[in-house]
Amino acid sequence: MKTLIVVSHPYPEQSHTIKSLEQTARSFSDVEVRNLESLYGNDLNNFDVRAEQIAHEAADRVIYMFPVHWFNLTPMLKAYMNTVWAYGWAFGPEGTALKGKQFQVVATAGAAEFTYSHEGIIECTMDEVLSPLKASAKYVGMNYQQPIAFYEAMGADAAKMKSFKEVLVSALSV
Ligand SMILES: Cc1cc2nc3c(=O)[nH]c(=O)nc-3n(C[C@H](O)[C@H](O)[C@H](O)COP(=O)(O)O)c2cc1C
Repeated sequence: MKTLIVVSHPYPEQSHTIKSLEQTARSFSDVEVRNLESLYGNDLNNFDVRAEQIAHEAADRVIYMFPVHWFNLTPMLKAYMNTVWAYGWAFGPEGTALKGKQFQVVATAGAAEFTYSHEGIIECTMDEVLSPLKASAKYVGMNYQQPIAFYEAMGADAAKMKSFKEVLVSALSV
């Protein structure tokens, strides 16, 4: 199975967890990793749309990896979807490029897992927070996979980072 991982972090110099997970992902030979800020900086309007679409076309599984910031995806990832998931390619007449591919989110969160529950302060789960991505994936005919969420990821120590990486490695190994 060929996997494309699109990574986005608006503050790469402050990132520990996403950076470390990205490194782990890059060690897999059948995984292509594309880091949006490395490729395009913070420019919301300069994506190489065709190159990004080709990367998606080559993959059986597409993973979007990002830190949850204000219960949302990153600005670059949102702008990316707006242009790469184009009419006539991802949806609309002839727009079937993503159909049948697996789609999965790998997200890191500063808050605890309990926060992401109906009993927690936000009164919604991570699945619910990520529902725009679920809706988008389903809209273009992708096979939406259960998200992988890493909680209390801010300043994760070595032991926690090791357990996060093990989860990612086992997900990428199937
Ligand atoms: C601007 C900003 C907003 C954040 N918003 C959230 C949030 O809404 N929910 C949450 O659980 N964590 C939030 N966090 C914490 C980050 O998700 C966490 O630090 C990150 O996932 C850790 O990965 P990193 O080391 O790669 O940055 C926020 C952090 C920043 C800087």
